[in-house]
Amino acid sequence: MTTPEDNQKVIAKYFKPQEISALKVLGSRLIITLNAKEDEALAEALKQELTQINPDKKVSVVFVSQKKEAENLPSKWRVKGVKHIIAVASGKGGVGKSTTSVNLALALANLNLKVALFDADIYGPSVPMMLGYGKTPPVSYDGKTFEPFMECSIKSMSIGSMISDDTALIWRGAKACGAIEQLLTQTNWGEIDVMVIDMPPGTGDIQITMSQKIDFSGAVIVSTPQDIALIDAIKGINLFNKIGVPVLGVIENMSYYICEKCGHRAEIFGHAGAEKTAQKYGIDFLGEIPLHYDIRSNADSGTPIVQSAPDSPYAKAYENIARKIAQKLK
Ligand SMILES: Nc1ncnc2c1ncn2[C@@H]1O[C@H](COP(=O)(O)OP(=O)(O)O)[C@@H](O)[C@H]1O
Ligand SMILES: [Mg+2]
Repeated sequence: MTTPEDNQKVIAKYFKPQEISALKVLGSRLIITLNAKEDEALAEALKQELTQINPDKKVSVVFVSQKKEAENLPSKWRVKGVKHIIAVASGKGGVGKSTTSVNLALALANLNLKVALFDADIYGPSVPMMLGYGKTPPVSYDGKTFEPFMECSIKSMSIGSMISDDTALIWRGAKACGAIEQLLTQTNWGEIDVMVIDMPPGTGDIQITMSQKIDFSGAVIVSTPQDIALIDAIKGINLFNKIGVPVLGVIENMSYYICEKCGHRAEIFGHAGAEKTAQKYGIDFLGEIPLHYDIRSNADSGTPIVQSAPDSPYAKAYENIARKIAQKLK
């Protein structure tokens, strides 16, 4: 009759005592759990020797440490050819995340960088409209990979090209993340210096998975000045901090209103709220973008302001922010 001690002696020939985490008999099964570097050949030899002295048992050898490591360190999504990826995020929708993403991408391109824009906002993909290609489907030459759009001197791709308007409403985390991963990793981006990702708003499962799976160089948080939007922005900051993605800074959008007729400046939502929040969290304040008719009408008609009025003070505001971000990526 084979005793547990006999089995221990055999295992000790192959593994160190501290590597043996359990030896269990479950009915007709003998299970050895090892906290060691996975080694197929060694495991097989051990299994055979144990089977000889336990002919009535089915022997299994399981490695736990490797398995745990694999679970703890999710493999990143591989985005070929892209040097830096930055997330443009907001705690909630409607604060101007997409307008900021598009104009920031164009402003980065004006700094002679090769720029890509990826629209991952499954709840309201608006990059196709803002860059003027609307519902045009992306081209695939091989049936496996996609060609990015090339509009306004930047490459882009939108999750909006993959879904109908009401699909996102019924998508849940895993499905949405699968589609985002596929489009992001199977697009032929070419050589890119900076990719801007227009994130879905909020801090739910999809945002968390994306933050873990994408090798972000940093995140930029867009907020309006009023308190309620700032509370959401703080949630966004906390999410990136927790996952270890550096927060490059906060942008205050719709910071103040300039009257088109008389040039009067009105601080409709209060002012400098985002700057104060940034200070409080030790995060850089990247700049403020005013609320202006031209920013809205140009964004919504497919000619973002940085492209259509590059000399306007509004385009300059985006450019200043782009310069600060580019500096941080060096
Ligand atoms: N600084 C701004 N001035 C004027 N309109 C803006 C500004 N930023 C965004 N908008 C407008 O506000 C609406 C919401 O902006 P959008 O970028 O789509 O927000 P989000 O992506 O956060 O949902 C759009 O119609 C957009 O044109
Ligand atoms: Mg949007």
